[in-house]
Amino acid sequence: MQISAVPEINKRKESDLIVFPFWYQKKGPKAAASLGTFQATAKTPIEAKDFSGKSGEILLLYSKGAKEKRCLLLGLGKEEELDLESLRKAYALVAKECHKRKAAKINLVVPNVSELRGLTVDELLTGMSEGILLPNYQWKELGSKREEKTLIKHLSFIGVLPKMLGPATDAMKVAEGVYFARDLVNGSADRITPQYLAKTAQELATKFSGVKATVFGKNEIEKQKMGLLLAVSRGSAVDPAFITLSYKGAPRSKDHTVLVGKGVTYDTGGLNIKPTGSMETMRSDMAGSATVLGTLAAVASLGLKVNVTAVIAATENSVDGRSYKPGDVYTSHKGTTVEVGNTDAEGRLTLADALSYSVDHLKPTRIIDLATLTGSVVIALGEDVSGLFANQDTLANSLLEASKQTGESMWRLPLYAPYKELFKSDIADLKNIGGRAAGSITAALFLQEFVTSDIPWAHIDIAGTAFCNKERAYIPKNASGYGVRLLVDFLRKI
Ligand code: BES
Ligand code: ZN
Ligand code: ZN
Repeated sequence: MQISAVPEINKRKESDLIVFPFWYQKKGPKAAASLGTFQATAKTPIEAKDFSGKSGEILLLYSKGAKEKRCLLLGLGKEEELDLESLRKAYALVAKECHKRKAAKINLVVPNVSELRGLTVDELLTGMSEGILLPNYQWKELGSKREEKTLIKHLSFIGVLPKMLGPATDAMKVAEGVYFARDLVNGSADRITPQYLAKTAQELATKFSGVKATVFGKNEIEKQKMGLLLAVSRGSAVDPAFITLSYKGAPRSKDHTVLVGKGVTYDTGGLNIKPTGSMETMRSDMAGSATVLGTLAAVASLGLKVNVTAVIAATENSVDGRSYKPGDVYTSHKGTTVEVGNTDAEGRLTLADALSYSVDHLKPTRIIDLATLTGSVVIALGEDVSGLFANQDTLANSLLEASKQTGESMWRLPLYAPYKELFKSDIADLKNIGGRAAGSITAALFLQEFVTSDIPWAHIDIAGTAFCNKERAYIPKNASGYGVRLLVDFLRKI
């Protein structure tokens, strides 16, 4: 993607489409920036009341002799109601119109800054860029008959100076992290194996300076006594992999954020096999790991002055004669013994070993894990909102703040300690299931057993938000890349 700035509208280059923003007013739409020679073009439809400037409204026009093939009037809604989310939604409509018209090069007239209330110029450019960039994605592993989408390749902001483009180029780097995560989640599980995730991490280490990858194969995982990860991986034809990828952007600081991502590359459920209808999208069960890798890529590309490590205990959860069995007991990396109540509650087992390894070996200042952990969270919060759990309010509030800023919604749920009763075992220290009631809470409480209370820890259950069968305002269907923007925003502000 090429991003440029043209301070004066008359100096703009030719393009496939130019976008003019409008505010909604009762008495009729008001141009949010000068229309220049397009005054006449816009006049007729406005007089005919075919365009009001309400948010979500677009009107495609054609103008003879212009530098663009097409002109798009875009409604931003009421000027005083403009915020990041309404900008994203409005500019996503522009992106979709461009895809429809196969417009790859676009001129975006920036709304007049002096007229804005409550939004900084940086936020304005961020919102516009995100609205265009986030839907500007196509999953490339195409079926033979699917037509290739014409993606937007040139973005020219009209009415700003080149030195003001920082937020737009930053948004591009973050969007690349989001695409990166989506590609991993959308990809077939037979290709995106634990070894593939390991290779991907190693490639990131080669690509970015300050990034280092370490991969443990099965032998090393055995040496590390990660008994729960090994149990889950028993039934799979592919080996597990334990991946750490660290970025040191602040070498002199001791501050260190560890991001743990669930990396179950396919979840059949194991011997407690999932029924038809529940298994088909389970290649997305490594979305947490895709998010932490995408975040690391974005953070490194932005060159943020922070220290971050992504940790992934990658494995498949498959069915085989060697599969781990309900009723069996395994010893975790931490030493805690766990009775397998249900082989489909595998995520918490892999995460338990990843969390306690992080506590023991990585000197974290804080740990945040992301996991497609429970069907329960989808029932509780749906496909738009993730479940947040945290053992400390400051961390929880910072994450909620990042969630508000990025529009990646999240709701805090309680680590209600009395429910620990629910996953008691007669034969081991813990059992990996706690019954149907409060399923997301008992899963989070199980994870909490493997961190220590002195380290701020948050768990984000993304089972509903990571993968979606319908397209949203600015998020395409299937893998959403949820969490990359949220984590980058969080890391920017620590
Ligand atoms: N990977 C699933 C959770 C999931 C469900 C993710 C739907 C995305 C969409 C997880 O491993 C799982 O199967 N959890 C079980 C736990 C139960 C057996 C205690 C669940 O939620 O049903
Ligand atoms: Zn499962
Ligand atoms: Zn799972």
